[in-house]
Amino acid sequence: MAMTKKSVDLTADLGFLKLRNPVLAASGTFGYGLEFEPYLDLEKLGGFVVKGLYYKPREGNPPPRLVETASGLINAIGLQGVGVEAFSEKILPELRRLKTAVIVNVCGADDDEYAAVVEYLDKQDGIAAYELNISCPNVKAEGLCPALSPRTTFDLVKRIKAASRRPLITKLSPNVTSIVEIAKAAEEAGTDAIALVNTFLAMALDLETRRPKLRNVFGGLSGPAIKPIALRMVYQVASRVRVPVIGMGGIMTGADALEFLVAGAAAVEVGTANFVDPDAAVRIVAEIESWCEAHGVAAVREIVGTIMVS
Ligand SMILES: Cc1cc2nc3c(=O)[nH]c(=O)nc-3n(C[C@H](O)[C@H](O)[C@H](O)COP(=O)(O)O)c2cc1C
Repeated sequence: MAMTKKSVDLTADLGFLKLRNPVLAASGTFGYGLEFEPYLDLEKLGGFVVKGLYYKPREGNPPPRLVETASGLINAIGLQGVGVEAFSEKILPELRRLKTAVIVNVCGADDDEYAAVVEYLDKQDGIAAYELNISCPNVKAEGLCPALSPRTTFDLVKRIKAASRRPLITKLSPNVTSIVEIAKAAEEAGTDAIALVNTFLAMALDLETRRPKLRNVFGGLSGPAIKPIALRMVYQVASRVRVPVIGMGGIMTGADALEFLVAGAAAVEVGTANFVDPDAAVRIVAEIESWCEAHGVAAVREIVGTIMVS
């Protein structure tokens, strides 16, 4: 008798947004999506988050801006981007033809700029949600970013939630003492979801020249090196907030992604893996599906938060 392959329901539900599957490409590692069209079918992804957008175009930091470390990557790109006008006029019309969720990562040098970005983008169609990157250095607060304190997180999330008509995902920095406190501040301020983690503040130096390897001295560490810490933070936050959590940090395989789902994430993002293998995110979707088939899981949603701790 021929066995018919049972199909797994891969859909993910963030409440305000239903995704084809729980895998999104992470901001800053996937360009504006279109750059990856030669390598993968963008419609096989749950969606993607475009690189961080400030109001005006930005050049980013001078090179060298990327350095490889043991199981990781340190970047100091400095949020290079085209700005809201060029994005809306040249890129968004191309993205609108895709049947996949397009999420815009929103940046600002101060709270007014974040608000100006969402107010401008609110007038454009074809954006599923905003991901608020609260890790941008604030020029009015001596370079400190809003993600570093519950108060500044609360104030910014509240303001942006009130200013925008779209669902808001707040993306947290891991460079804090208590990630749960920051997540709770974002939830109290009305965020619709929480994404974590952004990169870990790091540096690398060349022993022979005794110089930092990055021109900026400091950068953000990502990739498999951060996965255990990211997983711990996602678990802590998911067990303490009611809004959905999107987990990321070092996801390279379907098994890595499934660990974040079991720890409580409703969806995941894939970042550094896109540099190693440009169709990593689509491969990860296929690996999740195979694992579910092999383990008799009919719908991937069923495994969210099923971690057994006792
Ligand atoms: C080169 C590079 C650029 C990034 N740019 C952004 C960005 O513009 N906005 C943002 O919120 N996160 C940015 N990130 C962080 C990633 O979206 C992600 O949170 C982080 O890298 C952890 O996931 P990973 O280990 O899978 O890469 C960037 C990461 C890298 C490596």
